[in-house]
Amino acid sequence: MLKTPRSFNLATSLISSPIRGLLFLHNQPHTFFTRFASTTTNQTPSTTNPTQSATNPTPSATNPTPSATNPTPSATNPTPPATNPTPSATNPTPPATNPTPSATKPTLSATDPVPSAVDPDEMPPDMIRELHSSHPRPMRFEFNQKDKVTSQMLENMDIGVKKHRIPATFSDFAAFNAVRLLRWLPDTYFKDNHYMRVVMLETVAAVPGMVGGMLRHLRSLRNVRHDGGWIIHLLHEAENERMHLLTWMKCLQPTWVDRSIILGVQGAFFNAYFLLYLLSPRTAHRFCGYLEEEAVISYTHFLKDIDEGKIENRPAPRIAKEYYNLQPTATIRDVVLAVRSDEALHRDSNHHFADRIAACQEDLRRDVGMLLQSPEWRNRLGNVSQEADQRWGRGEARGTPHPRDS
Ligand SMILES: [Fe+2]
Ligand SMILES: [Fe+2]
Repeated sequence: MLKTPRSFNLATSLISSPIRGLLFLHNQPHTFFTRFASTTTNQTPSTTNPTQSATNPTPSATNPTPSATNPTPSATNPTPPATNPTPSATNPTPPATNPTPSATKPTLSATDPVPSAVDPDEMPPDMIRELHSSHPRPMRFEFNQKDKVTSQMLENMDIGVKKHRIPATFSDFAAFNAVRLLRWLPDTYFKDNHYMRVVMLETVAAVPGMVGGMLRHLRSLRNVRHDGGWIIHLLHEAENERMHLLTWMKCLQPTWVDRSIILGVQGAFFNAYFLLYLLSPRTAHRFCGYLEEEAVISYTHFLKDIDEGKIENRPAPRIAKEYYNLQPTATIRDVVLAVRSDEALHRDSNHHFADRIAACQEDLRRDVGMLLQSPEWRNRLGNVSQEADQRWGRGEARGTPHPRDS
């Protein structure tokens, strides 16, 4: 028998090592492919076979990944130890000797939908808690109640569909005519394409609240003073408009041409509005008030075309049902009614902002405090929480700012 030369053994070991490595990866894919496991079906544990039995303590080749109840093996400890029984369906919690992640240091499970590229040690737990628990909150009182909002309730909301602020000053006229001029563009381009029109409208409408909130924030920092209650409302308005956009994006996917238009319009509008707000915040809010008047008109036309059968009254997207607390059977018509009621609120609040600037009284907390002293207003506003009552009772409710803010 021929003796195998040493050089041949060396060559075969060099060739076979990568093959052995590949075989290892095949049998123990979770040690290397954890971050890719969620993207392939054969490496993701099925929900019908979520756990390993007690008689099969080590992961088999056909069930290589740990169960949902099993903590994620770390890179330095890829497989559960042989002496450590894997949790079964009847014993979902691993024993104390199992290297479980501590309560203060949660570890991502391999079966989590979160990409495992996220380092759990790097993401602050409070950031995780905040993102997990927070969700966009509607602006109107009607959508923040426990009971589901019905079509009839939406129909009966008194929002002042035909409300119009008659321009009184030069700045009002300038704002009104600027909006009328700007309306000509979408009227000409989109015509009766309501979905595309509202997508474009919302990409523009979500800008002023953010610009106003940002500039008020900076002014509060510069002046080392409270902002008077404007920022929170303006930022909430921007979020509310973005929720409108996200809702309509579920009904329509813009083409690349539409996206290019959105890009150009946002670039031009953001800068123009930013400059306008720096020069004349009053005109900027009046401009927004008129813009929202036009938004109410646009949504009324949308509603009319649904009622006339020109647009199919499809089921409402889930995002809108959740945001507005609508019934499971809600339709696009209900969403249009809900969004239109938001636009009416933006219209009224922006005209009010312009009025308060004109009156040189920009501390909205003082206004609210004085109004809340009236029993009639307290009834109109509905349930005012005890916490808010206590806060306002410290001084603001009496029409004077709190000493630390004045
Ligand atoms: Fe909107
Ligand atoms: Fe709006």
